[in-house]
Amino acid sequence: MSCLDTWEGRPVAVWEVLWKIPKFEAHDTLPSTNDRVRELAGGQARAFTVVTAETQTAGRGRSGKRWESAQGVGLWISFLLRPEPQSSPALAPVLVGLATAAAIESLCPELRPQIKWPNDLLVEGRKLAGVLCEVVGSDAVAVGVGINIGHRRADFPKALRDHATSLEAAGCSGLTRSSLAGRLLVEARGLLDPLPSELGEGLRREIRRRDALVGRRVRTDVGRVGKAVGISAHGALLIESEGTRHAITGGSVGLA
Ligand code: BTN
Repeated sequence: MSCLDTWEGRPVAVWEVLWKIPKFEAHDTLPSTNDRVRELAGGQARAFTVVTAETQTAGRGRSGKRWESAQGVGLWISFLLRPEPQSSPALAPVLVGLATAAAIESLCPELRPQIKWPNDLLVEGRKLAGVLCEVVGSDAVAVGVGINIGHRRADFPKALRDHATSLEAAGCSGLTRSSLAGRLLVEARGLLDPLPSELGEGLRREIRRRDALVGRRVRTDVGRVGKAVGISAHGALLIESEGTRHAITGGSVGLA
C-alpha cells in the first residue's frame, strides 16, 4: 500500500503540523479509509490519526450500503478516536454530524446543514454528507466522513439524483478539500476530544437547532411510527406515539 507524499499541493508532513495531528496518510486509492483506520487502530496509532483517499473502491455507509466515492468530487476522510473508559461511543455519530455541519457552515455561511439521525447531513432535504462510526476493539472508534463537494446533479448515479447533493450543487463553490478537512478536524477536536459520557444541555440545544426530524412524523425500519421530539442525552432518537416516548438506539428512520 503506498501513500502520497503530497496532498492538495503541500507535503503530508505540513498538514500534520497545520492540523496538529500525530499522523496523516493520504492515499490515491483505498477500498475504504475506515478500513485503513481500523487497521491502524490495532497498532499504536494515536487519536486523530487521519486517512484520506482520492477514491475508494469499497466506500461504505451504515448497514453495509455502498458510498459513492469518485475521484476529485469529494472529501473521503477517516480519523481515529481513542475514547476514555467513561466515554460513550454511541455519541460519536451525532457529535461527528454536528462537527461536520459546523465545519461546512463556517466555510459556506449561506448553507444550513441539518442532521438527520443517526448519520446523515442534509441540505435542503438532500444528503450532502454521511458519517460512519465503527467501534474497534475496546479502545478505538474509526470515524469516517464523506462530504460531496463538486458533483453536479448529473454526476450522481440515477438512483441518488433526487436525494443527494453536493456543496457545489447547493451553491457553495470553490471550496478546497484541505480547508474543509482542516475545519472538520478543529470542530471534531472541540466536540470529541474527549468523547463525553452524555450530551449536556448546550450540545442538545445545538443538535436540536440542526435536527432535520424534530416535529416530524417518522417511521423506524422496524415499523414504529411517531413524532420525532429530539435526541436524548445518550444519543438516541426520541419519538412519541400515543403519549408514550420511545428511545430509538439503532437502525434508521424515514419520514412517515
Ligand atoms: C452513510 O451515509 O451511511 C455514511 C457514509 C460514510 C462515508 C465515508 S467516506 C470516508 C469513510 N470511508 C468509508 O468507507 N465510509 C466513510
